[in-house]
Amino acid sequence: MWERPGAENDLLDHRLDEKPRILVVDDESVICDILRDFLEFEGFAVRTAGAGDTALELFGGDHFDLVLTDLKMPGLDGLGLLREIAELERDTATVIMTGFGTVETAIEAMKQGAFDYILKPFKPEEVVRVLRRALDKQRLERENFALRETVGFYELSEALSSAISLDDQLKMVVDLVQSNFGADGVAIVVEEPKSPGKYSDRVWCGQGCVKPRVERLLETFLAGGQVLAHGDEVVHWISDPATSERVVSSFMAAPLKIRGATFGMVTAFSSRRGQRFTEGQRKGLAIFGGRAADAIENARMYQNLQDTFTQTIEGFARALEAKDPYTHGHSDRVSMYAKLIASAMQLPPLEVLRITHGGYLHDIGKIGLRSHDLNKPQKLTPDEYTMFKSHPVQGRRIIEPIAFLSHLVPSVYYHHEAWDGSGYPEGLSQLDIPSEARILAVADTYDAMTSNRPYRKALPHEIALAEFKRCAGRQFDSSVVAAFLGAIERFRHSRIELGLPTPE
Ligand SMILES: [Fe+2]
Repeated sequence: MWERPGAENDLLDHRLDEKPRILVVDDESVICDILRDFLEFEGFAVRTAGAGDTALELFGGDHFDLVLTDLKMPGLDGLGLLREIAELERDTATVIMTGFGTVETAIEAMKQGAFDYILKPFKPEEVVRVLRRALDKQRLERENFALRETVGFYELSEALSSAISLDDQLKMVVDLVQSNFGADGVAIVVEEPKSPGKYSDRVWCGQGCVKPRVERLLETFLAGGQVLAHGDEVVHWISDPATSERVVSSFMAAPLKIRGATFGMVTAFSSRRGQRFTEGQRKGLAIFGGRAADAIENARMYQNLQDTFTQTIEGFARALEAKDPYTHGHSDRVSMYAKLIASAMQLPPLEVLRITHGGYLHDIGKIGLRSHDLNKPQKLTPDEYTMFKSHPVQGRRIIEPIAFLSHLVPSVYYHHEAWDGSGYPEGLSQLDIPSEARILAVADTYDAMTSNRPYRKALPHEIALAEFKRCAGRQFDSSVVAAFLGAIERFRHSRIELGLPTPE
């Protein structure tokens, strides 16, 4: 049994859980009283409000199946109340009472979504007949998918195809479940891929700390059962309700399955008094769950591919640096600086990723060069310099035939081009140079300047910055340099705060 403040009222509410909940709104209190007495006698749970505004306030914490409202009231009138209720996007049925029973007001009320209208003075039996008809229609609609839910499925498909990361996709599923089913809280729980049998909440939304009983739910799904519970039954499905700050009035859950195997669940709860998820909504949640399961599977496969890809190109970078002690860690650092710049320029996530990967591979062409000829304290001979300058061409030869690396060719081939056209191998200038190569040129040069070389010691950070300011608009793209100057200062600041080393 639930324990919470105001328990007396709650007990009453639970007893009334199965009864249709009616809100009667009329500024004449005698009408409210008569209807309450009569309708309660007929088996309805009834609340009354003397004004449209008061009725709207009651909607904040309660669920009503039907609102029976007077048309003419001071303040918010019946039609105004209908509009406000429609905005709340709940499936509350509405019936209008009017003493001015003209065809026009009736038509207007129906346009606002009212199920029917009743002329005053009325016979109580007539009111009951209209209410029962409205509730029957509502029950049928609740058992089926509503148009609103169809729109939700469309939104879900759109959202899933636009999001990149798994977390973004799950967040969208949760938001759409919340908005489409009027849930106060939604949770997606999934099995951790690296720890079979361990389930954790991936996404939460809404308030409170209502946790589903994962094992019990899994057993039920395994046995082919379905989960839709209201009132006292809810306790069976959520953990330790005594510690929960929320009182849950309705709960539903659907499995996440891939190829028949359940690996998680999507759950939703409502804490609005009298709110009951419908069978139609549970079916809708199961469909959302199916789509979410596909999205999780796809995102995990994509992530695995990305991880494999990154590990592969990091392996190439290691192979390159293994033969050259002076460039140890150079590719990692260039990749990191390039990522900082691309992020500061607010490039799209996929582009940032491509530039980051380009950083690892930019010098891959040096793998075919004789490093002992290049790593010497003396100036390079003209032949050696020509050999050195061939590394972008060599790099392109290496990666171009490899389909999964070919999108990194611009990074590898053009990273020694210069803004003023004085670079190599093509002598491109300005915006003819691909953006990733313009970014890598800055990242590469900064790391080269601030690292030891066989022919000179590392330059101080401040000297390197002064060089970039001097060469912006000449050797380097000024907009890239500007992004770099801001990003490198923020980066150094955060490293210094954490006590980590930075180039001096
Ligand atoms: Fe290079």
